[in-house]
Amino acid sequence: MPSSTARALPSPKLTAQPGLLRKLLREPQPVLDELAETVGPVCGLGFGPMRFAVVGDPPALRELFATPTESFRWNHKFNVLAVVVRPGSMIVSDGADHKRRRSSVQAAFSRRRLNGWIPMIVERTDAAIDDLVGSLDPAGSSVDMYRVGRSLVLEIVVRAMFGDRMASHATEFGDLFQRAQDYLEAPAYRQIPHRLPFGARARVRKDRRAFNAIVDEEIAHLRAQPSGDDFNVLASLVAEGVLADAEIRDQVNTLIGAVYETTAASLAWMLWRATLVPRLWDRLRDEADSVLGRPGERHDPDHTTLAQLELANRVMRETLRLHPAGVVSPREAVTDVVVGGFRIPKGTLILWSAYLAGRNADAWVEPLRFDPDRFLDLTPDQQATADAAWVPSGRGARNCIGFALSQMELTLIISRLAQRLDLTPTTTTLPRPVGMVVNRPKGGVPMNATARTEHPGHDQQNRA
Ligand code: HEM
Repeated sequence: MPSSTARALPSPKLTAQPGLLRKLLREPQPVLDELAETVGPVCGLGFGPMRFAVVGDPPALRELFATPTESFRWNHKFNVLAVVVRPGSMIVSDGADHKRRRSSVQAAFSRRRLNGWIPMIVERTDAAIDDLVGSLDPAGSSVDMYRVGRSLVLEIVVRAMFGDRMASHATEFGDLFQRAQDYLEAPAYRQIPHRLPFGARARVRKDRRAFNAIVDEEIAHLRAQPSGDDFNVLASLVAEGVLADAEIRDQVNTLIGAVYETTAASLAWMLWRATLVPRLWDRLRDEADSVLGRPGERHDPDHTTLAQLELANRVMRETLRLHPAGVVSPREAVTDVVVGGFRIPKGTLILWSAYLAGRNADAWVEPLRFDPDRFLDLTPDQQATADAAWVPSGRGARNCIGFALSQMELTLIISRLAQRLDLTPTTTTLPRPVGMVVNRPKGGVPMNATARTEHPGHDQQNRA
């Protein structure tokens, strides 16, 4: 539709906007629900240089993702990540710089590489479960499974992408990135830019220097002793010689930062959902027993394993529908853009929302019900509707580069956990979401955990 015939964005009452905006930028989910219900899933807020558009309607999102990337800017003036993510990172780059940086890293996520990491993911998950079980009281202990999952996903991704030497720093990376995230979620007045050598901002800079020192040392090591390991992303970037050292460092920082919370938060929501729905944990266990082999039996997982973990895959998809790690993702319009019949003026910060699309009542039957089986037996039309509305990782040239790795991790980890642990949530109420940058359950995932015990009927049922 030409921009001249498109309608202006609908907006909430002017007097309500400052309050809505403040809340949107701090704790977006309730405000997004309110806006979608009272104004619509595509709407505008703010004025002058502070104009925002929320886009959460699946057909409008399809148009947004199909619009050429030249119409948008990711290195925009509202970039709250700037203190943590360096300007050389692909995530805040545009045009040719973005293309060069992204394509250097892209090869790391080829299907061949991803498949090569499957045995390691299962092996590291087993090691984490062994450690956990060793620390549990046999009668059961209360454990925050969010913390357990976060260390595990971080270690796996650092090992997968950057090799064993970098993985030995995984705990340190966890601390550095946690402090950066706490800073990004602190009140705005604590984030005012300054160069003073004290305070939380100075601490983030210091952490970044510490991080850079580790990566620089690894780059120097790889130059002195090339590893020849073509599964190691850092080794490939160094050998390829396309990116300068500072750019390599920025991509490593971005990749670890991007994985740090997203996959862990998704696993946290998966654990809540999988243990709160009656019998779902048992169903996941049965599937894992038949695909991965019962605990103690030797099965070498490979690329065929993932395709067989169908239920775990649907639990992952359904969790990301309702709890996408990025509730809103920003890009600035650098030209007027038309989506869903509405004109979004140049200079507007577009917050597109996987969260709203995942809960859209035109796209999903009983959208708030958690039902992993909703993805079964879809007609081609239903499949197309679901595809347009399931966008936790975006679409098009700026979609998430690491999402396939996350999906693989989440599917394998939940299967293995279901096989080896009995988990009972300490409450039957789903926690409130927190986090502007990454949406995660408030209070983590406190669960009563014991090593797997066979229920008398369960074992026989399995063998029947
Ligand atoms: C459940 C896990 C994850 C979710 C839900 C997720 C979601 C997203 C979303 C919504 C975007 C923005 C797309 C846009 O702006 O249109 C994004 C971008 C990105 N993600 Fe992820 N992500 C996840 C895991 C990861 C992992 C594991 C990595 C790295 C190993 C990663 C690396 C990136 C990078 C580098 C970008 C920027 C791509 C670009 O600008 O070209 N993400 N992700």
